[in-house]
Amino acid sequence: MSQVAKCGIVSTASALPRKKLTNFHLEKMVDTSHQWIVSRTGIEERRLAEEGTGASHLALEASQKALKSANVSPEQVDLIILTTVTPDRPVPATANVVQAHLGASRAAAFDLNAGCSGFIYGLVTGQQFIQTGIYQNVLVIGVDLLSRITDWQDRGTCVLFGDGAGAVLLQPVEESGGVLATQLGSDGESADMLQVPAGGAMMPASERTVKERLHYIKMNGNEIFKFAVRIVSEVTLDLLQKTGKKPEDLDNLILHQANLRILETARKKLGLPRERTPVNINLYGNMSAASIPVALDEVNQSGKLKRGDLIALVAFGAGLTWGGVLMEW
Ligand code: ACO
Repeated sequence: MSQVAKCGIVSTASALPRKKLTNFHLEKMVDTSHQWIVSRTGIEERRLAEEGTGASHLALEASQKALKSANVSPEQVDLIILTTVTPDRPVPATANVVQAHLGASRAAAFDLNAGCSGFIYGLVTGQQFIQTGIYQNVLVIGVDLLSRITDWQDRGTCVLFGDGAGAVLLQPVEESGGVLATQLGSDGESADMLQVPAGGAMMPASERTVKERLHYIKMNGNEIFKFAVRIVSEVTLDLLQKTGKKPEDLDNLILHQANLRILETARKKLGLPRERTPVNINLYGNMSAASIPVALDEVNQSGKLKRGDLIALVAFGAGLTWGGVLMEW
């Protein structure tokens, strides 16, 4: 086995549907108000994929942009890890569809489901192949079309979610830069806290499951809120402690965008200024696996990331799962 290499993110990209659904649209669909949604979640609007669009379409767009920006051809890609809870179809994996449309003929490809923590799980998985020298170019995609599994009659969940995709290219990096520390975790005891009950092997689709709306997300929002607030700061502190760093050393803490109150509570707990914890939930809602790569891409495209910056990416989600990556840009 080759010497251990450092794994860096060499390009970022995102793909967002053009169609916007504002809180004012939602007011006409369920018993809610712009005021309630903004004050409880920070969300003002979200993007929805057009009918006929699948996860593969948004994933492909983000992947093509990521490869172009890194000046890497599809044939050079060794591995595609596509993280999602909303694949195009149960079989085959959406990663295989993206591989074909991308023309990444040499690549291995698979899907990974770790809820909203999917992108972090994908990043840490890809990192292993780079570090061990097995692969030189790993594409990690976070994509979700939560609108497809959202119950548009349930005001408790339908105001929260949106669609989007983000992608990054991982490569070995020399000298400075790259992943410094990681953490992944799971609490399967709380699996029922956020679930789509039907459509899997345990409860296949039937007339009854459709009638009882069991193909949509069911969530215990209050419990997830409490878990999220606790886990986000725990994971961030753990990453910092592993590397002898302090919260004030962080140039950017990019958190899973699920609720502005979760982001704000974590930010205050860690004593970070607002400009170091990017927020885009107001524009996109919770895009699950796409949330972190899209936020990272926005910060990157804005030119705010400088070489050597210390960045933490931290997510939590269905599973329950959580994960974090501390890296130098
Ligand atoms: N509009 C108006 N009122 C509403 C709405 C709405 N859209 N939704 C709920 N309410 C009502 C409730 O019915 C309740 O009314 P009641 O007091 O008469 O019973 C009241 O508002 C308060 O409801 P709560 O659920 O206690 O509201 P809360 O402040 O907890 O906010 C929320 C709910 C936004 C869901 C919050 O709990 C949350 O964000 N939780 C975290 C969810 C999360 O992060 N999920 C993603 C996990 S990641 C993944 O893998 C997808």
